[in-house]
Amino acid sequence: QTVDADGLVLLPGLVDLHTHLREPGREDAETVYSGTRAAAKGGYTAVCAMANSYPVADTAGVVEQVAALGKAAGYADVQPIGAVSIGLEGKQLAEIGAMAHSAAAVRMFSDDGHCVSDPILMRRALEYVKTFGGLIAQHAEEPRLTEGAQMNEGAVSAELGLPGWPAVAEEAIIARDVLLAEYTGARVHFCHVSTARSVDIIREAKARGAKVTAEVCPHHLLLTDEAARTYDPVYKVNPPLRRESDVAVLRGALAEGVIDAVATDHAPHPPQDKDCEWAAARPGMLGLETALSITVLALGGPTGADWDTVAERTSRTPARIAGLEAHGRDPQPGTEANFTLVDPAATWTVVPADLASLSRNTPYAGMELPVTVQATFLRGRATVLNGKIEEETTE
Ligand code: NCD
Ligand code: ZN
Ligand code: ZN
Repeated sequence: QTVDADGLVLLPGLVDLHTHLREPGREDAETVYSGTRAAAKGGYTAVCAMANSYPVADTAGVVEQVAALGKAAGYADVQPIGAVSIGLEGKQLAEIGAMAHSAAAVRMFSDDGHCVSDPILMRRALEYVKTFGGLIAQHAEEPRLTEGAQMNEGAVSAELGLPGWPAVAEEAIIARDVLLAEYTGARVHFCHVSTARSVDIIREAKARGAKVTAEVCPHHLLLTDEAARTYDPVYKVNPPLRRESDVAVLRGALAEGVIDAVATDHAPHPPQDKDCEWAAARPGMLGLETALSITVLALGGPTGADWDTVAERTSRTPARIAGLEAHGRDPQPGTEANFTLVDPAATWTVVPADLASLSRNTPYAGMELPVTVQATFLRGRATVLNGKIEEETTE
């Protein structure tokens, strides 16, 4: 294919460290096919599939199935994340070695959708993944501090009379696991960091040389707990939308690199799980198709953002964290490159019905966002051209 790239910005294909593809088990919300099409449309060439499917991705069989579905779809490389513990109980380690040695070659294990709050189990998991150079992606929520919580604990939750989710529920686990990472010498990656104090803890840990990395989600770079005043469950998410002051600190930490990467936490939910009362709604929001635009906004807007920093936080660094060697690299002549072409001057309006995701739970409906993805190439083949998904992706 030939593309007129005049005026466009070339980025290495985006890499998402945190995507809920919902297959197997919740194919009404998303499938590997629909989710990777959404990824391609958002400029991604690789996604790490979070493990809280049904069944949970806690065996070699499930992670191999997810990887095979990704290959068959052909829209993005799908790297499954293994569940660190069996099921969503967090009581017993999963088949970490079997998943690592499977055809899916899992390196990242996570407790997303629940939390390994038992420090003994966490220590064992860290020692285990260290033996083959893997890492744990920590969902970072102390469940005993968030029981019944509906939104960020603060002035707005007090006013609305909704049970609050304290920042310390996240910070306590991050602080603990920084210490366990240093103690074991293992790698920990912190998922969806959302508070200013979490950033402080991570900054200090890095200064001491702890092997820790962290991601932030687009919605935590833009939205605040003020959105809960609408009682619209589209704004309900784990961890919750925080305060304006947290947003400012997260933006600064992303620009600086204390936060290593942007990850979407793309969490599709079908209408029945969102078109209901706030308290009954499932937490989570879509992210893949809007992440680049919001990252650019958060890093200074289309004219203010430094594109090298955008490439670093959305592609090169996440590729390095996940060990995806074919990604996060600038295209080289003679290689099958993974890259994205972006129109820095264009804007677009988010129309839920136009999204490639099977779900519609975007908090950005009707918003005008900067920057459009014009083309995405996976291994030298277009998955998106002229802003449209290519229907033929396989030879
Ligand atoms: C996640 C989901 O829907 O799988 N939801 C979310 O709000 N991030 C799971 C989770 O992290 O709680
Ligand atoms: Zn999570
Ligand atoms: Zn998640």
